[in-house]
Amino acid sequence: MILMIEMHKVDVVYDDGNVGLKGIDVHINSGEIVYITGHSGAGKTSLLRLLYGDLAPSRGIVRFDNRIISHLRSKGIAYLRREIGVVFQDLKLLEDKTVYENLMLPLEIFYLQKNLIQERIYSLLKQLDIFTHRDFPVKKLSGGEKQRVALARALINEPMLILADEPTGNLDSKNADKVMDIILRKSSKGSTTLIATHDQRIIKEYPGRVIHLDHGMVTYDSGGKRNQSVG
Ligand SMILES: Nc1ncnc2c1ncn2[C@@H]1O[C@H](COP(=O)(O)OP(=O)(O)O)[C@@H](O)[C@H]1O
Ligand SMILES: [Mg+2]
Repeated sequence: MILMIEMHKVDVVYDDGNVGLKGIDVHINSGEIVYITGHSGAGKTSLLRLLYGDLAPSRGIVRFDNRIISHLRSKGIAYLRREIGVVFQDLKLLEDKTVYENLMLPLEIFYLQKNLIQERIYSLLKQLDIFTHRDFPVKKLSGGEKQRVALARALINEPMLILADEPTGNLDSKNADKVMDIILRKSSKGSTTLIATHDQRIIKEYPGRVIHLDHGMVTYDSGGKRNQSVG
C-alpha cells in the first residue's frame, strides 16, 4: 500500500480565533475512498481545504504524495492542484459560460490538442447524462445538472486525488446516486477519494472508510475496514 495523505498533529485556527481542526492524525492510502462525516461546523471543509493548499495548518504537517503542502510556494500549489479534482460545496461554476466552456478551462493548461479536449469532454458529459446541455450556459441548468457539471470539471483532468465537499448536498436520492456512481467509478480506477458528507444514506449504502469529526477532532475512524464488509 502506498501512503498518499498524511496529517500529523494538525491544528487549524482561523484569524478570528475559531478552531477549524484540532490534533488531526490521519493516514490515507492511495486508492482509498473516505467519507468525512460530522455535523455542520465539525471541520469537514477545513480538512479538504488543507489538501487543496487553500488553507495552511496553524500547527502540524500535511503531506500529499510526498510533498509537504504547507512548504509549497504558489507555483508548487499550482502544480499540486493539477493533481487534484475538487467539487466545491458552492460549486464555483462560471454561470455565464457554457457547460463545455466550464470543462475546457481546466484542460487548457495541459496544452492538449483541441480535438482531444473535445473528445474527453464529450465522453465525460455523456457518462454524466448532460451531453445534450453542453452548449447551455450553466445558469440555465437545474441544481442536479449543475452538480454534475461541477463533478465533471473535477474529473476532467483524471486527477490522482478527488475532493468532493457535500457533492450530494442539494440532490434528491436519484440524482445523488448518479453522482455517487460516477465518483466511485472514477475512484475505482485508482484515484484516492475524499467525500465530505452528512448524508447518512450515502454512508450506509456505499462502501468506504468513514472518518467522523466532532468540533474539529476525529472521534471515529473505521480505518478502511468497511471497504470489504459493506455490500
Ligand atoms: N474562514 C473562516 N473563518 C473563521 N472561521 C471559520 C472559517 N471557516 C470555517 N470556520 C470555522 O471552523 C469550524 C469548522 O468549519 P468547517 O470546516 O467549515 O466545518 P464543516 O465543513 O464541517 O461544516 C467552524 O466552527 C467554522 O465556523
Ligand atoms: Mg463544509
